[in-house]
Amino acid sequence: MTKHIGILTAGGDSPGLNAAIRGVGKTALGRYDMQVIGFMDGFKGLVENRSTRLDGDFFSGILTRGGTILGTSRDKPHRMMFGGKKQDMTDIIVENYHANHLDALVCIGGGGTQKNALELLNKGLNIITLPKTIDNDVGLTDTTFGFDTALGIATEAIDRLHSTAHSHHRIIVVEIMGHRAGWLALGAGIAGGADVILLPELPYNIENVATAIRSRVKSGKKFSIVAVAEGALPVDQAELMEQARTAKEEAPDKDARKKAKDKITRLEKNNINHIVTLSSQLEELTGLESRVTILGYLQRGGTPSAADRLLATRLGAACADSIHNEQFGVMIAARGDGAVAVPLAEVAGNKKLVPSDHPWVQAAISVGTNFGV
Ligand code: F6P
Repeated sequence: MTKHIGILTAGGDSPGLNAAIRGVGKTALGRYDMQVIGFMDGFKGLVENRSTRLDGDFFSGILTRGGTILGTSRDKPHRMMFGGKKQDMTDIIVENYHANHLDALVCIGGGGTQKNALELLNKGLNIITLPKTIDNDVGLTDTTFGFDTALGIATEAIDRLHSTAHSHHRIIVVEIMGHRAGWLALGAGIAGGADVILLPELPYNIENVATAIRSRVKSGKKFSIVAVAEGALPVDQAELMEQARTAKEEAPDKDARKKAKDKITRLEKNNINHIVTLSSQLEELTGLESRVTILGYLQRGGTPSAADRLLATRLGAACADSIHNEQFGVMIAARGDGAVAVPLAEVAGNKKLVPSDHPWVQAAISVGTNFGV
């Protein structure tokens, strides 16, 4: 019997999404003779039953394209804006899944998507996921597609900032994406030879950063590159954030949870100007001029790297194999050169943060990089 499968992409876009759609779709169509449809704009399109038939032609020429041809959104099945208020739309999703005679639904996304997908699995749907995000913070997979491309872009940016920082004898503070996990700032900081790397996982002390920069000046290096992850915080603010997050996790009721969430939002808002504050503090403490560069969405846009195309293709193909073998409720993870199916229940909520003793951190310390700790 011909199997019918649906594909959607959810969460922030990421280079390699189209390569993954193609990997799943071409294998499903060509190898297993399945019928494939794509839902537009993530879980929102599934609720609104906006879909398109994905035939062979659809996959031509998309391997190299950035973004996602299916569109994406951050909408969550259980709390979706509908008719002017947030509603639980999971029952509608279940209805649409059956109305489309689906045998499986492939959800391609990051940490949030893995959690949303688990909810749909628990509603009895045959769900299978793939890990994408430039943040590289999904647990139980070696890596996620999108990360390598973003790493290349952020590294090239640091390379370019070096020559101008050097010419003007300035500090350049560069903000790199990553609210909770600092993989991108760490990887690009190491590859680009940043002098200071600040991560959400390692709360910093501004005095330590200034001391490192001043000692560079003493040794004749009158410029410094400071690579900062979006979510990096000084020790005192990191403590407040940690308290708020714990309060949210341990909240006994809805009200307490909302209060803790509002506090997190307030702290995150305060952090928006963090990089500007950091830059002017460093000017004051070192006597050097300092400038800010925010890489922002440049890191998520554009054509995927060869490594991301390869990763997304092999995980996508393995995903179609799993559907053929009726193996559901799993994320297809990268493990070495191969792919393994890991239970969605173990992946959901399993955020992969940078451990303080990670080999990348150790290597950076060995070459004299300062982490402000
Ligand atoms: O995709 C993950 C991520 O890139 C984070 O690093 C970043 O903080 C976030 O998305 C911002 O995305 P958006 O503005 O689309 O919500």
